[in-house]
Amino acid sequence: MISTGDFSRFLETFAARIHAAKEELTQLDSAIGDADHGINMDRGMTAISELLPGLQDGDAGTLFKQTGMKLISTVGGASGPLYGTFFLRLGTSFGTATEIGPTELAAGFRAGLEGVIARGKAGLDDKTMVDAMVPAVEALEAGIGDLPAALDAAAVAAAAGRDRVTPLVARKGRASYLGERSADHQDPGATSTTILFESLRDALRAG
Ligand SMILES: Nc1ncnc2c1ncn2[C@@H]1O[C@H](COP(=O)(O)OP(=O)(O)OP(=O)(O)O)[C@@H](O)[C@H]1O
Ligand SMILES: [Mg+2]
Repeated sequence: MISTGDFSRFLETFAARIHAAKEELTQLDSAIGDADHGINMDRGMTAISELLPGLQDGDAGTLFKQTGMKLISTVGGASGPLYGTFFLRLGTSFGTATEIGPTELAAGFRAGLEGVIARGKAGLDDKTMVDAMVPAVEALEAGIGDLPAALDAAAVAAAAGRDRVTPLVARKGRASYLGERSADHQDPGATSTTILFESLRDALRAG
């Protein structure tokens, strides 16, 4: 079972890794966007780390709902509302539970993904965070019998999804304004989503 404290460690790990990747994410976004993805995400996740001490002893739903609301209010741009919706839906799915099993974990991430798609209207191959998130959630769902293996498969699948769409032309968000020139650049949002699933795997493995 995964406790609220474990999830809090996941968010702390995600915040630390986003901070470490800030320059890289901004670099990627400068090639096909407006060079703010690293700055946006770091601002949001730094605000989340400050919230965590007050949330880690409560229920998992509140932890993720507060995270989602904070991201919406601090990140801005396209990714703030998208990641914010992801965590809000995750929190709604977990509700007042303080211990989450593998089946509920996969269902929560599925709900989060559906929220991102409902909000941003991106599908596979549009070259967004969705291209990393879809295969990662599918790997989680396929592997619920063996959680550590499923978490690893999800992280690997996210990275593979991120890399798979690098040659493609972006069809959503700011990168789509570049048309053909967006091809052969790694998507910043798919990169931060890969960091999210790697953080989940590594934080839960360490627990
Ligand atoms: N409609 C969408 N659905 C899913 N993901 C999206 C969508 N639009 C953009 N993204 C993701 O958001 C990432 C860019 O996030 P960023 O924080 O840089 O916002 P932004 O595009 O600069 O926002 P804005 O254009 O409002 O300033 C992209 O790399 C892409 O993965
Ligand atoms: Mg940007």
